[in-house]
Amino acid sequence: MTDFRITNPDIHAYLEAVRPPSDSVLQEMEKLAVERGFPYLGAQCSRLLYVLVRSLQARRIFELGSGFGYTMYWMARAIEDGGIVIGTENDAKNVAEAKDFFARGGLTDRTDIRLGDALELFATEQGPLDLVFCDIDKHDYPRAFEMAKPRLRDGGLFVADNLLRGGRIVDPESRDDATEGVRRFTEHIHNDPDFLSVIVPMRDGMSISVKIS
Ligand code: DHB
Ligand code: MG
Repeated sequence: MTDFRITNPDIHAYLEAVRPPSDSVLQEMEKLAVERGFPYLGAQCSRLLYVLVRSLQARRIFELGSGFGYTMYWMARAIEDGGIVIGTENDAKNVAEAKDFFARGGLTDRTDIRLGDALELFATEQGPLDLVFCDIDKHDYPRAFEMAKPRLRDGGLFVADNLLRGGRIVDPESRDDATEGVRRFTEHIHNDPDFLSVIVPMRDGMSISVKIS
């Protein structure tokens, strides 16, 4: 499923029409995602990520679940010189493709995509991190947040995709592991005294949580 947005279609079309086109490598990745039905983040949410990374003047970013590198590509373009976007992906073909896209975008020095289980790889990361982006299996979101907390610097951001689950989040009958995982995660990010969180209802809902102590 690529078209996971819950935004009013006319509003989405308008937002797509007023933004400048993505660069040629990104356009190729967008086309590939659509062809394969791969659930990539899309240009709207990615532009928001770019704004966050740039505003933070981020130097060290960790991504859980990178696919063929679409969001890593966006964040690598936004990171400070000398900074690094570390990604994780358990499919070797996706990793190889991502590396090729990064090379073609001139982003090899700013990216480090690692093959393996996202949470296992995250356990080896000490931090401090400026931003963690989470887009893995949804039942693992609560664990990802717990692991990120000590690794984020003060003022750092935990950003996660798919908080609205294509609308299933407001359907009390939807009790699947993924939706329940997102429900637990949603409760955690709002009740943790060390974070202030907001869910931006763009595409499928993206949460942004800032570490405040
Ligand atoms: C799915 C996963 C995603 O990360 C996403 O953005 C959209 C859909 C899914 O598993 O269906
Ligand atoms: Mg997603």
